[in-house]
Amino acid sequence: MKMAFFDTKPYDERGFREAGERYGIEYRFFETKLTAHTCSLAAGCDGVVVFVSDTVDREVIDRLCGMGIRLVALRCAGFNNVDLKAAEGRVTVVRVPSYSPSAVAEHAFALLLCLCRRIHRAYLRTREFNFSLNGLTGKGLKGKVAGIVGAGQIGRAFAEIAAGFGMEVLAYDPFPAADSGLAYRSLDEVLKRSDVLSLHCPLTAETRHMIDGQAITAMRDGAVLINTSRGALVDSEALLHGLRSGKLGGACLDVYEEETELFYEDLSDRTVRDELLATLISLPNVIVTSHQAFLTEEALTAIAEITSRNVVTVLKREPCENEVREKRA
Ligand code: NAI
Repeated sequence: MKMAFFDTKPYDERGFREAGERYGIEYRFFETKLTAHTCSLAAGCDGVVVFVSDTVDREVIDRLCGMGIRLVALRCAGFNNVDLKAAEGRVTVVRVPSYSPSAVAEHAFALLLCLCRRIHRAYLRTREFNFSLNGLTGKGLKGKVAGIVGAGQIGRAFAEIAAGFGMEVLAYDPFPAADSGLAYRSLDEVLKRSDVLSLHCPLTAETRHMIDGQAITAMRDGAVLINTSRGALVDSEALLHGLRSGKLGGACLDVYEEETELFYEDLSDRTVRDELLATLISLPNVIVTSHQAFLTEEALTAIAEITSRNVVTVLKREPCENEVREKRA
């Protein structure tokens, strides 16, 4: 079994080499992202392994099929970068639906604590031996309301942490789970009542820009928005406006709608042309991380293990529980 592995980062290789040895898979690592121009690197392989910023559109799928490739293995949970309609009946798409929900939830909460207690600013100050506390007054979380949009695995893990901090947790999810023990409310109520709003739903046509100008207006004054899900859930222009006007108290962003050409790369010696992102990063009440919420040792091991299991299952033509299909209306 040979798999072409696109957008390889140094932290990917070890776990996949080890899992590959266990499962009899030869991973061929390429640093480049998968696009219509780089597809040919997969020649001679049984499938491709891709991540969130690889392109798996109709053109790429046509080219893969032209090379006899029938497997796209996502090494992530989200699959909004795959044209499932184009894949239907031609290419099997598998993903890793869950590898460490706590990794993402913990990162979301870490960002929140960092922002609320101004750790990001204090860290920079003390490195310069500036021990002044001016401007570092924090905001407590105990007794405040945490609103969760999308109460799946990660949303629930976040809810548990928030509850541990003494927060009241409200959840919005169009598919409430009977066994979650969560207090489900309408999206409107969650927006209105939350001091902290954390997004944990998938990006779909329906959820794109769900946090737009109107939603931000409906939010509580001074609320903090956390997005560790997908960038395009939030209208970034509206977010910037909400922050600049003082309507929002802050934003913790692990994802950004135009992140594909930026995140995961070292651009420190270049001028980043995305003015919106540059402005967001420059604000004192915004923390941006580069889609790293998943990145723990535990999660990387689980991703390599589950992806390898998916690959073997599909190539043996057995049914795979992690297959992703276009939803039928
Ligand atoms: P999940 O499938 O367990 O939960 C998603 C929840 O969203 C479900 O309960 C679903 O009913 C709900 N939902 C669906 N449509 C909705 C809507 N219109 N409004 C509100 N809720 C809606 O998924 P999981 O594992 O909790 O992951 C959530 C998201 O986190 C993923 O879709 C992915 O985009 C993101 N993610 C981000 C990572 C990172 O490193 N930043 C890593 C892994 C996932």
